[in-house]
Amino acid sequence: MASRFIAPHLAEASYNGVEPLETIAKEIGLPVEQLIKLNANENVYGLPEAVQQAVANAEHHVYPDPAQVQLRAAVAKLLEVQPENICCGAGSDDILDIVIRMNQPKAMVTSIPTFGMYKFLGSVANVPVVNVKRKDDFTLDMDAIIAAIRDNEEDALIVMDEAYAEFCDSTSMSLFGTYPNLLVARTFSKWAGLAGLRLGYCVADAELIKVMMAIKQPYNVNTAADAAGLAALEHRDTILKTVAILRAEKDRLYTELTKVDWLRPVPSDANFVLVEVQRLPAQTLYQGGDLSNYVRISAGKPEQMDAVLAAIKAIEKEYHLYAPIISM
Ligand SMILES: Cc1ncc(COP(=O)(O)O)c(C=O)c1O
Repeated sequence: MASRFIAPHLAEASYNGVEPLETIAKEIGLPVEQLIKLNANENVYGLPEAVQQAVANAEHHVYPDPAQVQLRAAVAKLLEVQPENICCGAGSDDILDIVIRMNQPKAMVTSIPTFGMYKFLGSVANVPVVNVKRKDDFTLDMDAIIAAIRDNEEDALIVMDEAYAEFCDSTSMSLFGTYPNLLVARTFSKWAGLAGLRLGYCVADAELIKVMMAIKQPYNVNTAADAAGLAALEHRDTILKTVAILRAEKDRLYTELTKVDWLRPVPSDANFVLVEVQRLPAQTLYQGGDLSNYVRISAGKPEQMDAVLAAIKAIEKEYHLYAPIISM
């Protein structure tokens, strides 16, 4: 009878995080060394030596700086804004959580299918989430989005989630400064390989940032993440070389998948390719994911992409999927 202590809106709240490789290895009965992990859009190259050193040398027994002075200054310098426009968090997930607590919106409008965190955070904060379906080619239905915003909020905060900004050549940052209702969220998880250390940030009007800094968990960016973030920015050019390889491998993966009769890859500006699986249950390729008959493959090292393409060929052979089925 302890359930009476649980807020009713939380009954359904839960988030399906990515399973660690060890868990998957156990489930399928293979040694973990034989598996390649490409299900979470991480940077498979990991951290450069200098960043690892910075993490090792951080003073882990000391509380991190709640004002994030050095980190905010370094991010601000990179983006040519002021530190007063930056708030850092434990991943961009944390940033989104702080934004929702700061804004307490009547509703959140998202475009589905999308990142599951938005729905999760909405359900935890008891904010209704209005889902606008993407067009058949997965592009945004801007007219429907604008209509949904008008129906729910007269004056909405627009959050641009730019988690994959370093993997494409477009950003909304040029609009920053013109629109006080624009907030851009970014992460170190994808380009800098800091997914496990948890570091993200946002750029927004100083008035919003002031409140975000005041209401966030004071030590949300831990000492190791703080040190890693500073070092990653210092060695950004080196890290961006791995991003360039991953971008090229993503393009190669996309091109190769277009040649497979029973797969339909969706064009991607991120570090992964979403693929519609035809003539087979998508679970044949990947036991997970919540988009029916699609799988998502992260870009990896060239040899890892070769292994993925070889596995697809093996599946093709096993299930006799060479020629398109002609129905009469
Ligand atoms: C669109 C999008 N936003 C945000 C995130 C979360 O990033 P972080 O690790 O910084 O919380 C992800 C991670 O997969 C993502 O795909």
